[in-house]
Amino acid sequence: MKIPKEFNLIWAQIDNRRKLYFGMGAAILSSVMVAFIPYIYGRLVDVAIKAGAQMKIVFELILLWLVISILSNLLGRYTDRYAFEMSTDVSNKLMVDLFNHLSNLPISFHKEKKTGKVTRRASRGIDQLGDFIERTIFSFLPAVLTFFVALVILFFVEWRLSLILLVSSLVYILMTIFYTKKIVKEQKLVNANWEKAYGELFDSVTNVHAVKSATAEDFEQKRNTRNFNFVGRIYKNWRFKWTKMSFWQQMIFAVAFIAVFVNGVMMLKAGTLTPGLLIMFVGYTSLLTSPLARLADQYRQAKTAIDTFRRAAKYYDIAPEKDLANARKFEIKGRVVFDNVSFTYKKGRREVLKNIFFEVEPGQTVALVGESGVGKTTIADLVGRYYLPQRGRIFIDGVDIKKIQLKSLRAQMALVPQEVILFNDTIENNIKYGSPNASEQQIIEAAKAANAHEFIETFPKKYEQLVGERGIKLSTGQKQRVAIARAILRDPKILILDEATSALDSVSEKLVQEALQKLIQNRTTFVIAHRLSTIQHADKIIVLEKGEIAEQGTHEELMLNPDGIYRNFWEMQTAIERRK
Ligand SMILES: Nc1ncnc2c1ncn2[C@@H]1O[C@H](COP(=O)(O)OP(=O)(O)O)[C@@H](O)[C@H]1O
Ligand SMILES: [Mg+2]
Repeated sequence: MKIPKEFNLIWAQIDNRRKLYFGMGAAILSSVMVAFIPYIYGRLVDVAIKAGAQMKIVFELILLWLVISILSNLLGRYTDRYAFEMSTDVSNKLMVDLFNHLSNLPISFHKEKKTGKVTRRASRGIDQLGDFIERTIFSFLPAVLTFFVALVILFFVEWRLSLILLVSSLVYILMTIFYTKKIVKEQKLVNANWEKAYGELFDSVTNVHAVKSATAEDFEQKRNTRNFNFVGRIYKNWRFKWTKMSFWQQMIFAVAFIAVFVNGVMMLKAGTLTPGLLIMFVGYTSLLTSPLARLADQYRQAKTAIDTFRRAAKYYDIAPEKDLANARKFEIKGRVVFDNVSFTYKKGRREVLKNIFFEVEPGQTVALVGESGVGKTTIADLVGRYYLPQRGRIFIDGVDIKKIQLKSLRAQMALVPQEVILFNDTIENNIKYGSPNASEQQIIEAAKAANAHEFIETFPKKYEQLVGERGIKLSTGQKQRVAIARAILRDPKILILDEATSALDSVSEKLVQEALQKLIQNRTTFVIAHRLSTIQHADKIIVLEKGEIAEQGTHEELMLNPDGIYRNFWEMQTAIERRK
């Protein structure tokens, strides 16, 4: 049998193997011991009721019974503790390990997958694994062992009665598994429909504004009623199947018990069975029924646990971002060259960028201009090696960026995007995110340079102010300035401003522009902006059209071409500005 790779994943998280073997040994030992208890009291009865009973043997048997009960309970307690300890440790370690792995996956993975779904799948898979270890491996499997040992003992004692128990157990097991398989399949349908019903219900509540303005209340209410009626119906059906199965299970138990008892009484009358043996059999019947009664639940749980964990473990199949073997740390000066770069997000899809060729000298500012969707952000992402071009190469100071260590490359870059995302933490921590060793003085200076110090000082807690989920308590312009302060603190060699001022009103824009002017000194800067007046003084302006470079040059050079795209843009924008 091939060992599934999921097993290796779990195995790697268990560092105290010896303790594991002890735990398993204790579980096995205690379940074997339990299987002997009915045997002991059955014998005890026979010895005790015999005429001229030997009291010494009676006491010995009672003592044995007591000792075995105490020992098996102690071992059971150890097993339970260990099972809990192990499942907690393994799931915690796996959780961290899997989330580390997820954060090492390329940005393309995170852009494609919904974060909520990924985290839910990962954490659910691991939670289920913890349950599986505790309940199935350390609780159910030992009970199954007790079951088999008990059957073997019974066969030695009285095989005819054992046969009744064996046959009815087999019928029970086959029926349960057959039924449970069907029910589990249906359960998936029920779950999916619950999710859908709740999802749409929440959607209509959270988007209540949109619903009202579209006067779609009736539509939403009807749909929600329909969804819940439907899922309610299939859920009830599903539950009825359980109760039906449980009825047949109980029937099998009852018939088996009666059969053993009746046969036993007849054999007792015929003198082929002693009263002690009958009591022993009655005891065993209840011992055998307990793992059987848990079978359906266990089957369902184990299957769900294995399936959900498998799904979570699939993320390990996706390769993380990696450095090439010969990648090295590198001190960047800032000369960036795109040498005939072509790029597509998905193989076989249309090329987003085609034959891009340009050079930027250290400290220069280059502006990327073009319609939305033309590939400006993509160029910026290629510089940070978030994606690799399919054709062509990108050089920094003459070195192919593939040969620069990712961490070293990104540590010398900073990005100020249009939508700044802050952590739900203090302003100070948000500014120094990415520069953990910055002193308080440096942080304040960076904030001053970013025109952020003033508004931070107006907060009651100043730099200790919490910014709220994703920075919700700050205005767009304030977030932008926090992001600029963060970038200043990092002192990057390459800076990317991706529509950093597009969403701002004119007052904020002026403050942010001022801050940016200070920031771009002495760094290679890529500016992406729609308002051409803001990039007029760039050392180089690259005009993109349909993924290709249509024009490049300085403002003055580009304005010389009367039919040029840039000049057209410019004239359109200045005309609009004048009309305002
Ligand atoms: N992660 C992605 N997967 C697939 N296509 C993408 C992805 N990101 C962007 N695109 C597509 O690539 C093109 C260029 O996008 P982008 O560089 O963001 O444009 P810009 O920044 O110029 O507005 C667009 O057509 C966009 O739809
Ligand atoms: Mg963009």
